Amino acid sequence: MNVLLDDILKECSQYVGQGKLANYIPELANADPNKFGICVIPHEGEIAFAGDYYHHFTIQSAIKPLILLMALFDSGWSRVHDLVGVEATGKPFDAFNYSDQALTGAHINPMINTGAIALCTLIKGETYDEKFNHLLNFTRKLAGNPTMEIDEAVYRSEKITGNKNRALAYMLKAYGMIEDPVEDVLDCYFKACSILTTCTDLARIAAVFSNQGKDVLTGKQMFEPKYAKYVNAILTTCGMYDGSGEFALRVGFPAKSGVGGGILGVVPKRMGIGVYSPALDKKGNSVAGIHALEMLSRKFDLSIFL
Ligand code: DON
Repeated sequence: MNVLLDDILKECSQYVGQGKLANYIPELANADPNKFGICVIPHEGEIAFAGDYYHHFTIQSAIKPLILLMALFDSGWSRVHDLVGVEATGKPFDAFNYSDQALTGAHINPMINTGAIALCTLIKGETYDEKFNHLLNFTRKLAGNPTMEIDEAVYRSEKITGNKNRALAYMLKAYGMIEDPVEDVLDCYFKACSILTTCTDLARIAAVFSNQGKDVLTGKQMFEPKYAKYVNAILTTCGMYDGSGEFALRVGFPAKSGVGGGILGVVPKRMGIGVYSPALDKKGNSVAGIHALEMLSRKFDLSIFL
């Protein structure tokens, strides 16, 4: 498998550096556009990796499935579903214009910024520091990596420049969808996006979602299968934003991208995948990462749509 992943990276190397580094969070523009790595954790067989699979980058929106999971876990299915709906917006991840009428949960989903910010309020904790630490600790458990931490420079960079997210959060507040102080909620969201990760972490997390909530490497049940089903369904329809339809055609399994350049891929009953290359397409998804997933999907027949 390692040889095969090496081949995939070689064949997709022409796409590395195509697209642009995210620069609306200034610190992200310092990434090396030539990095390219992948890790696969299959249910049967050995963990496999290639390229810069050990390189650290910030998780960004690839934390959204975990925010959703924590909210489901801590507040239950119906509170989550009432606050944040499940329909694709067909709009960019930071769009404002979901609706001409008053904003309600039915207009948003957990994978866009507005939805993820709202769901931070449903994570257990007396304070937003506690909520964030709860999310971080669970993320560490799923990744099997107790050393995961935030990148302080990216966190500060996003907090200082994050006025679009601030506006989205105030919109939620204006429509009565969040009660807590906006800056506290945002602080938890910004920290969550700034968690440092690697392809290996993403693959391990994705593997749990692919295995009905059970850790593939230890066999331990990490959360109830119904939550994996919920998250995987939303990843399929909304995980790649307004690129989700095209991604379903080309790759064909649940996935979540982040503007740090990582993508977490969930192949139900088969494997978890983490891929990284920081240059992005116009929708905020890694260009080389999507090509690598497309090739992997073709070689192993991974599309859930057959
Ligand atoms: O809130 C933001 O804009 C970033 N922290 C995360 C956005 C993101 O990763 C979109 N994904 N492709």
